[in-house]
Amino acid sequence: MAETLIEAAEPLDPVYAAEREKRPVYSNEDLHLLVLQLILSLLLNPHKNSVEKRYYPTEAEAGQKLNVPFVLQCHVNHPGNSKLMPVLHERAKAMGEGVTRLVKLTVHCLFQHELYFNRRRMVAGAFGTVYTCKPPYSDETLIVKLIDMPKKEHDLPLLQTLFNEMTILEQFKGNPCVCQLYDYGVNEEYCYMVMKQYRTSLKSWRNRQTAPLEEMLPLYIWTFGSILDAMQLFSDHKVNHFDIKCDNILLEPLKDDMPDSEFWDSSHGSPTFSVVLADFGESKVYNSENDEHTYRNRGTEFIMSPEMISIAKARYKGDAKYDRRKRSGAGKASDIWSLACLFYEILTGDFLFYDDIWPAFFCRVTVEGQPILKPENIEKVDENPEIIALLEFMLVRDPQHRPSLKATRQKFKLLFGEMLSKYPRMDTQTQRH
Ligand SMILES: Nc1ncnc2c1ncn2[C@@H]1O[C@H](COP(=O)(O)OP(=O)(O)O)[C@@H](O)[C@H]1O
Ligand SMILES: [Mg+2]
Repeated sequence: MAETLIEAAEPLDPVYAAEREKRPVYSNEDLHLLVLQLILSLLLNPHKNSVEKRYYPTEAEAGQKLNVPFVLQCHVNHPGNSKLMPVLHERAKAMGEGVTRLVKLTVHCLFQHELYFNRRRMVAGAFGTVYTCKPPYSDETLIVKLIDMPKKEHDLPLLQTLFNEMTILEQFKGNPCVCQLYDYGVNEEYCYMVMKQYRTSLKSWRNRQTAPLEEMLPLYIWTFGSILDAMQLFSDHKVNHFDIKCDNILLEPLKDDMPDSEFWDSSHGSPTFSVVLADFGESKVYNSENDEHTYRNRGTEFIMSPEMISIAKARYKGDAKYDRRKRSGAGKASDIWSLACLFYEILTGDFLFYDDIWPAFFCRVTVEGQPILKPENIEKVDENPEIIALLEFMLVRDPQHRPSLKATRQKFKLLFGEMLSKYPRMDTQTQRH
């Protein structure tokens, strides 16, 4: 005990030190570590791919349930306990990837945030701020995304969300279709995500295209086809993205060091990039059909499926039935809806269901009988019958009747296979998965 106090990094507050001495858990370092290991292993769900729900409050339960991640975070980052952290980290590694991830997302001293001090703000996203940064150890410019950490016990816990995002990114390490995460960690202020820098987002690329749809059509169709292929990877690994839109798709030049002039030149109609899926802040890994649904509304409103929007509405209204409607949350069918919205966004640069008036948007998406495509939407896609057919095929309001990804890809191939036969890249993309 006395030894621990002497070796602590900073002198401890005498009142705290006296109280600490009374607690048996601090009398033996090994016992202390074992208790922490026990808490960490309980914090992981039995599938080891998520944080166990019973230990943190959801938005609806805020203040009514012990926020274990917050208490644990206070404990492990206290100066009196910091000495044990490197040992805890080693033990966590022996316990597996899930526990290691929990430790990295909880213990501050394991991450060298000073390396990313000199950074330049690139964009403030919905959930974090993205910076470019050239840390001293790297020749490459990297991307650092900073997400605000909860500061108070009653702030909404973030551990679950961050854990999900890191799990997915680590699962797809080395896969060219998924944004590459190099490192991550936390301090009092932020969670840091250090990633590979991609050339641009599909949103920015699309915004710069000025040629008429007719001219760009094969390239746009090819781009969407590549995204459908990449999504298959997710479906195979039981991951729902829940936030599919042009902003969250990044583009990687087809060859290293491709100059910007070549990258941005789409006048010849052939792709200069491959697509990379990014931003898993809303995503969910599921274990079975029963578990794949989410009861939180995730993602950007205008690309949300009817079932996702209904979740948001039920929550606002405090609908008593909301939590008990077991299988009516949003699942993988929700991504199909968003993919159709993305298809329209690639083709036109606009959100299909955008409306200034929220109730009008809500009715259009959720009320059966409302036309899915308005005359102006049809006009914007040049009244192209194949495009209209694919949009109508995918945009089925009832998730039970919405086509699967497999059926969508088959339909896509049927409608656009011939157009894309001139594109050798399309096959290469498919073979990668
Ligand atoms: N690795 C990256 N390379 C290049 N741009 C990126 C990268 N990650 C994010 N961005 C840019 O930052 C934006 C926001 O990042 P994102 O991960 O989607 O965060 P948010 O959760 O805030 O939406 C993206 O739309 C994209 O333009
Ligand atoms: Mg995003």
